[in-house]
Amino acid sequence: MDNRTNTIAGWVLAACGAALGLSIAGGMVFHSEAPEKFGFPIEAAEEGGDAGAAEVPIATLLATADVAKGAEVFKKCAACHTINQGGANGIGPNLYATLGEGVAEGKGGFAFSDALKSKGGKWDFDNMSAWLTSPRKFAPGTKMTFAGIGNGQDRANVIAYINSMGSDLPMPAAPAAGAAAPAGAPADPGGKAEPTTEDLSNKAAPATGAPSIDPAAKVRGAKEDAK
Ligand code: HEC
Repeated sequence: MDNRTNTIAGWVLAACGAALGLSIAGGMVFHSEAPEKFGFPIEAAEEGGDAGAAEVPIATLLATADVAKGAEVFKKCAACHTINQGGANGIGPNLYATLGEGVAEGKGGFAFSDALKSKGGKWDFDNMSAWLTSPRKFAPGTKMTFAGIGNGQDRANVIAYINSMGSDLPMPAAPAAGAAAPAGAPADPGGKAEPTTEDLSNKAAPATGAPSIDPAAKVRGAKEDAK
């Protein structure tokens, strides 16, 4: 082994040492602390626990609903549903004249899930809104694998469209439109919301469902109270 080889070996060793040293130093300098909180804080109107205080009543949104825009939104549904009169059932049932009809009934013998069948009642604007906010929350175990429409106005538009297809139920009276946060606002039991008409549609966005218009929640609430 000659001197040259030794010198090369020496440099290689030195380089390794330097690299190791750097990585240790780097580790010390750049060591990252895990953040104490993950995600960003969301100043939610959920502190009361019970409920979407800021959720805009669907009746209010329906007052300004646009059937033509609803037809656009319905494209999301068209993968699974037809809505023309006498249309075929696909992955989901034909939806002609569904509002006003029994939940999970008729529809040419469509095989509804027990989850939806067990809901009972008729489709109205409120339960339709709850269903379309989050099918999974409305009827846990439903076969409708659709995430839901978080945006309240989109939801109102598509509901108005569905209503126009064979149902034509009278639109619900919008509760005091324009009255910003009146003292007795029904949807705001805790008095903690400050809805102005401008930001209402944003408030409706969280896809976490709308407990305030979930009939099941009411029933559950009633059971709690009864205890
Ligand atoms: C991936 C397929 C799929 C998509 C997308 C979908 N649905 Fe459904 N839908 C279903 C299925 C399946 C059922 C039956 C659910 C059950 O039995 O649990 C259903 C049921 C329904 C019902 C109940 C009908 C009745 O007679 O009780 C309504 C209303 C409805 N869907 C509306 C919509 C709307 C509006 C959209 C779009 C915003 C939509 N669905 C998107 C598959 C879908």
